[in-house]
Amino acid sequence: NETIYILAIESSCDDTSAAVLSNKKVLSNITATQKIHEEYGGVVPELASRAHQQNIVPVVHQALNKANIDKKQLSAIAFTRGPGLMGSLLVGTSFAKSLSLGLNIPLIEVNHMQAHILAHFIEGQQDGTPEFPFLAMTISGGHTQIVLIKDFFDMEILGETLDDAVGEAFDKSAKILGLPYPGGPLVDKYAQEGNPKAFPFPKPKVDGLNFSFSGLKTSILYFIQRETAKHPDFIQENLKDICASIQKTIIHILMDKLKKAVEETGITQIAIGGGVSANSGIRKALKMAEKNRGWKTFIPRFEYCTDNAAMIGVVGYLKYQQDKFSEQDISAKARYVL
Ligand code: KG4
Ligand code: ZN
Repeated sequence: NETIYILAIESSCDDTSAAVLSNKKVLSNITATQKIHEEYGGVVPELASRAHQQNIVPVVHQALNKANIDKKQLSAIAFTRGPGLMGSLLVGTSFAKSLSLGLNIPLIEVNHMQAHILAHFIEGQQDGTPEFPFLAMTISGGHTQIVLIKDFFDMEILGETLDDAVGEAFDKSAKILGLPYPGGPLVDKYAQEGNPKAFPFPKPKVDGLNFSFSGLKTSILYFIQRETAKHPDFIQENLKDICASIQKTIIHILMDKLKKAVEETGITQIAIGGGVSANSGIRKALKMAEKNRGWKTFIPRFEYCTDNAAMIGVVGYLKYQQDKFSEQDISAKARYVL
């Protein structure tokens, strides 16, 4: 049984990340985040692709150095093909193709959303590894989906958002509160010290396992406008309670649909993935459901929640084992279904 060394590249949005894995074990996982977007209140695609261009070579060097692996030892290169911002994806895709050609080793394309789910197969995850079939809820800045995972590369979307993604709901709420981008982690931080029952927000009525978050954003906006008209310091004086109330509402929405998915499928193994799975509230709610409902839940280690190349690498390894290689004429895909 030979050891497979995969170099993985992730550049779908605003994080440039490179990782080296030996089989399913992460030897290094280096991410350069882009500060430049903070002042714009969101990711500016053109600036993101320029920053990837600057970061990619140093990030790959660091990943190889930290792993203590020479590029000649690599078995294959895995990269994020999509979904994501085209200009960002092109940087990682072109880099991966060139390096695969230069080193004469196989190229493996990876779907970013599959990677958020299959991150659970990285060695050393705190909750272990789910067994097929299981349910996955992918919650990120671009996606909100409940997916039935029948096998590594056999997935069926059971429900998804009809408008904003849950990460967007966090980020847009944060923006209304005057917090910098990305606001999700900040809402989480303040929420932990606030009263979640302080301000009730309405939950949307959406059929089946689909989600909607745009109405929540609007009701938060109107609420804040109304209150600050009465007291200009309303946000400053109530920030923690507002954040706790928003977070509680979002988590209720997610948990309601998860419960419904469990009822409909009879599957009680639940894995979450994507940036919002770093959220302390959703992590707590899942562990509570594990106790009260007899579910088995899988929460990725913190470093494998937000965008990272290690998750791309583990998919690279799984595809390598199944001889799922890509040709040199492969191109990035901004829209790329599971
Ligand atoms: O998966 P990810 O890194 O990028 C995408 O593929 O979208 O997810 C980023 C999203 C952002 O919306 C960010 O605000 C959110 O994840 N996020 C959080 C937390 N950490 C990251 N949202 C709520 N609470 C957190 N602790
Ligand atoms: Zn992501």
